[in-house]
Amino acid sequence: MEPAEIKPEVYWVGAIDWNLREFHGYRTPRGTTYNAYLIMDRDITLVDAVKQPFYPDLVDRISKITDPQNIKYIVSNHVEMDHTGALPQLLSLIPNATVVTSTKGQPGLQKHFKANWLMKVVKTGETLSIGKRTLHFHHIPMVHWPDSMVTYSPHDSLLLPNDAFGQHIASAYRFDDEIGWDILREEAAKYYANIVLPYSDQVAAALTALSPLKFDMIAPSHGAIWRRFIPQILQQYQQWATYQTIPQAAIVYDTMWGSTDRMAGALRDGLEAAGIPVTMHNLKTSHISDAMTTVLDSRLICIGSPTLNGGVLPSIGAFLTYLKGLRPKQRIGLAFGSYGWGGQSIPDIEAVMNALAWEMPEHSLKTQYLPDENDLKTVYATAQRLGNYIKDQKRVHATGAENRQEAQHS
Ligand code: FEO
Repeated sequence: MEPAEIKPEVYWVGAIDWNLREFHGYRTPRGTTYNAYLIMDRDITLVDAVKQPFYPDLVDRISKITDPQNIKYIVSNHVEMDHTGALPQLLSLIPNATVVTSTKGQPGLQKHFKANWLMKVVKTGETLSIGKRTLHFHHIPMVHWPDSMVTYSPHDSLLLPNDAFGQHIASAYRFDDEIGWDILREEAAKYYANIVLPYSDQVAAALTALSPLKFDMIAPSHGAIWRRFIPQILQQYQQWATYQTIPQAAIVYDTMWGSTDRMAGALRDGLEAAGIPVTMHNLKTSHISDAMTTVLDSRLICIGSPTLNGGVLPSIGAFLTYLKGLRPKQRIGLAFGSYGWGGQSIPDIEAVMNALAWEMPEHSLKTQYLPDENDLKTVYATAQRLGNYIKDQKRVHATGAENRQEAQHS
């Protein structure tokens, strides 16, 4: 594929990874891209690189525009290997290029690569003149690593935020309007839920810090470049960063002999009778990263497991570990499950909900052996009460959300 000119003299020179299906625990059925951008100014500047196996793609695309030897600066917005893996080979080819990185980026790169590259450290708010352009650098620590940085080119009205606003999707198309909002919203949500969510407070701070900047294009390091749906993706990030949810439910469960599955079905029926949309994730067939995407937008999270070996089923154990690390706040929780004699699955699930400070207005539901008609009626009635409890809540805000919304990009 040819390089793509996304703005006059600014080119996408990244790589498309059609085969990626897993990204540190996150299922990526659509693959991904590693976006790198070449700015053709007096001092030719490459912003970010690609994963190591895609070094030939990067150099090939750059070479269609200029001799790589002409590159003066390589901006490294983020140390993670999907954006830096190709740097050792690239800097062997062009050893006189200077790597521009954040305060935390420099030690990160040095520790990763044990290399003695020319480096220029930029603090937040610093600028670099590369000709008719002056690049601005804004640190966005913990979105999602300590070193994370945004590069901004006022000349191009272009924001280069690396992972922020990314989506894992491989495509022949580079721009959001060529792919469509529905697919990109789904992939951006999955990306946020599985990578960015634990750092939502830092995302909210970053959105506020970036809100004075004027731009008409956001070119992240994964997936489509935003030019048409910028207000939509900014609004979504504002909502996710402030833990806003909508009155819908996620039921995440696994079952041993079908009893917990029957309880999940009664929960779904009761919630739907109360007018609450429900998404079911039986972890025998759903992946935990898909379940997390549903959790991102859902106000009510029901988690069910039978008791096995004095605890939860392994699939639910994995989900609870993942959930606890991703730290969604401001949720209503319900634990449920069947048991034979111990019933320890319920307190194990409740412990994670308590650790996340979720509200649990109803008692957990557990049934011994097979749920009978009365048990299922109890589950159904509990679900109806929970449904009625949340259905009039349009959106639930974390403290201070309204203030941060006012600072949103306009
Ligand atoms: Fe796309 Fe944090 O790397």
